[in-house]
Amino acid sequence: MQVHFLDRTGQRITAEAQPGDRLLDIAQAAGLPLEGTCEGQMACSTCHLIIAPQWFDCLPPASAEEEDLLDLAPAACSTSRLSCQIVLQEGLDGLLAKVP
Ligand code: FES
Repeated sequence: MQVHFLDRTGQRITAEAQPGDRLLDIAQAAGLPLEGTCEGQMACSTCHLIIAPQWFDCLPPASAEEEDLLDLAPAACSTSRLSCQIVLQEGLDGLLAKVP
């Protein structure tokens, strides 16, 4: 499967992924500047990505803990997610997310 990212300059980057991969790991492997400082412990929000609206509803809903952290993330919007909390599945082939 493939996922697509838009970096801060608007350049599109396509990465290969497998079901079960974390979106954060795929984004980092593709060279995107996501620190992921807490390594998925939901303590930093440096893994914040903005999901394309057409894909947002395909994701399992965010936990209350994730929502709380997103409230503090710079440039957060209504389709923001913490990429460390997104595990890819078949139905997400083609997902598009933007670096805030
Ligand atoms: S890596 Fe820290 S919240 Fe996702």
